[in-house]
Amino acid sequence: MNAPSPFDGRLLLIGFGCIGQGVLPLLLRHIDLQPAQVLIISPDDADRPIAEQYGVELRTLRLSEDNYQAELAPLLGPGDFLLNLSVQVESAALIALRQEHNALYLDTCTEPWAGAYTDSQQSASERSNYALRERLLARRRGEAGGSTALITHGANPGLVSHLVKQALLHLASDLGQPQAAPLDRLGWASMAQRLGVRCIHIAERDSQYAAQRKVDDEFVNTWSVDGFISEACQPAELGWGSHEKSLPVDGRRHAFGCQAAVYLQRPGAATRVRTWTPSGPTQGFLVTHSEAISIADYLTVGRGEHPEYRPTVHYAYQPCDDALLSLHELAARNWQPQSRQRLLDEDIAGGRDELGVLLLGHARTAYWYGSRLSIDEARALCPHNSATSLQVTATVMAGVIWAMANPDRGILEPDQLPHEEILGLCRPYLGELVGLYSDWTPLQDRERLFDEALDRDDPWQFVNFRVD
Ligand SMILES: NC(=O)c1ccc[n+]([C@@H]2O[C@H](COP(=O)([O-])OP(=O)(O)OC[C@H]3O[C@@H](n4cnc5c(N)ncnc54)[C@H](O)[C@@H]3O)[C@@H](O)[C@H]2O)c1
Repeated sequence: MNAPSPFDGRLLLIGFGCIGQGVLPLLLRHIDLQPAQVLIISPDDADRPIAEQYGVELRTLRLSEDNYQAELAPLLGPGDFLLNLSVQVESAALIALRQEHNALYLDTCTEPWAGAYTDSQQSASERSNYALRERLLARRRGEAGGSTALITHGANPGLVSHLVKQALLHLASDLGQPQAAPLDRLGWASMAQRLGVRCIHIAERDSQYAAQRKVDDEFVNTWSVDGFISEACQPAELGWGSHEKSLPVDGRRHAFGCQAAVYLQRPGAATRVRTWTPSGPTQGFLVTHSEAISIADYLTVGRGEHPEYRPTVHYAYQPCDDALLSLHELAARNWQPQSRQRLLDEDIAGGRDELGVLLLGHARTAYWYGSRLSIDEARALCPHNSATSLQVTATVMAGVIWAMANPDRGILEPDQLPHEEILGLCRPYLGELVGLYSDWTPLQDRERLFDEALDRDDPWQFVNFRVD
């Protein structure tokens, strides 16, 4: 599939940080688009030389609730593209604006305006990704069609929804039940149920490092430090499976919405879970992410709090070593951010990002399917990218192309897109796409440990994954 050729509108790129800088060369490479058609809006003038390198204009501007309409409306017309890769610029506001102007839209995270994630005036439920998603689903119900707005289409959320579908097809085939890709949501949900998938982890392990190690009072990461601190401090959230026997003591249901997910009364960065990637068993952080909710919702048979089938779905993220130390320090500071930040990019000296989906509980126990991409491969494939960012930017590029080719589909989540088309577009940038089985379970080698809370009768209960 190709973008309509050529794209003759304007592409407004909001935010020009780790992801914005990494996606620009991909957009210019894969879409028939002249640099003069692109306008970057970012408050950060330090990044101007990279824009200039591609002949693209950068306008120094910080968007806010008060100015976004006046600033953006004159720049947007029918068929133009609003690509939101910023932090702290509300997705819902830009999605409404795109509808007024019949423009296209894509983002990689449902962002609220600055401060909303930690606003103590709001309850944990109101500050959750579940609530942010429910507001957009309500908007979708109220919009009869409209221009395409593809929400949360990065790596995770984003790519992983397509990996889940491909992994289900692999699993069906390997269990001797090969089948064609289902044609609708219920078809995918019934397939996951039939295959006995109880839990899905978005299992990521980032091993990239730079020669200069983290120092005191510094937060180091391979993608947005602001973005990571925000989501790490939100309440942990997970899609809540129909096989789960009871909510954890700090688990809460929401008083509204689809009921596909629950939240915990503690930050994601204080919630560790056991998981597995091709590097072996690991412990990740159960940081809230919208894919944990949307995938669980998409794969539900039945409705509400007690559906016939739903897998438990959550993120299990082992960030790079210096980000791990940064989180440790952040927790010690009672979640008050460090005074310095450092984004690892050109200085990365080695390592890779393993990002995949781990399907658990079926007849072959555990199946991980995903991208293993080293920093050297990423650099050879596209400038201004690390292994972490390229998994995101390739999926953004694929989503932009798909939206241009399908301009009138309204608001869509990644789960609603055709996974083969998107994977076909991203595939050249994902390094090794690996599918591996393992006999790992969260109960393995724990006989001698003091784990009284374990449910030894059913390895796939959430209580067994959680590290308290
Ligand atoms: N889905 C995924 O896989 C995935 C992965 C990484 C990042 N993300 C998301 O992508 C977005 C960008 O991440 P990043 O790593 O590039 O972040 P970053 O912090 O590196 O860059 C953010 C950019 O937004 C700009 N910005 C901040 N406030 C702004 C404002 N008020 N108006 C306009 N621009 C503003 C910053 O100047 C910067 O250019 C975030 O929402 C992040 O959560 C998603």
